[in-house]
Amino acid sequence: PAPGPLKGRHILVTSGPTREPIDPVRYIANHSSGKQGHAIAAAAAALGARVTLVSGPVRLPDPAGVEVVRVETARDMLKACEAALPADAAVFAAAVADWRVARDADHKIKKTGEGPPALVLVENPDILATIARGPRRPAVVVGFAAETCHVIDHAKAKLARKGCDLIVANDVSPETGVMGGDRNRIHLISTSGVESWPELSKDEVATCLVARIAKRLARGEP
Ligand code: PMT
Repeated sequence: PAPGPLKGRHILVTSGPTREPIDPVRYIANHSSGKQGHAIAAAAAALGARVTLVSGPVRLPDPAGVEVVRVETARDMLKACEAALPADAAVFAAAVADWRVARDADHKIKKTGEGPPALVLVENPDILATIARGPRRPAVVVGFAAETCHVIDHAKAKLARKGCDLIVANDVSPETGVMGGDRNRIHLISTSGVESWPELSKDEVATCLVARIAKRLARGEP
């Protein structure tokens, strides 16, 4: 077969939720299944890329021909992403917990009869922003925006704030079935405008998105 358009390229992809411990048996997480991120990793490998997929805990098989690094917390995900650099492009599809418990307990928190414990949260590092603004920034950086209202406006703000080249915005309100489901309706946002795609399977979204990334890399533009 002819070499794929991403042959010789290294693509970093994040996928799935992160899991932030409260104590040895409890954690904070979200409904991400990893389907969208894993589909992107598979699509990049299908075009010939070397792919590193950094994934939180998911119940999916590893995509064929992809190096999978399994992590639990946001801090571990950041470390694994930094260890995977340099990369030509990076796609941050993971649903990273914005907050973690300040001090997770060494032992299972017990009911004391004095009411529920107060959990103090602290902010997690922003993996996308750290890498997009870091010294080893990939040439093409793609973020996601998971929103439940004002999807495009919020996503445009994230494009600027996080310093990425493209944002894939999706509506994760429960009635859309996007988180955990097989289909997605995305708006692709760049500094030059917004493109709204029809509802597609997550595999189709991945194929079209990776083709865009390949084109940008080939043209040598971000
Ligand atoms: O996994 P599935 O069930 O297939 O569902 C797919 C999805 C809905 C999870 C996916 O399409 C998606 O929207 N992923 C991004 C989820 C998210 O965390 O969005 P956000 O708007 O909170 O974050 C914006 C961007 O910053 C994302 O690229 C995120 O990976 C990144 N981020 C966020 C927080 C943080 N601490 N570090 C980050 O890198």
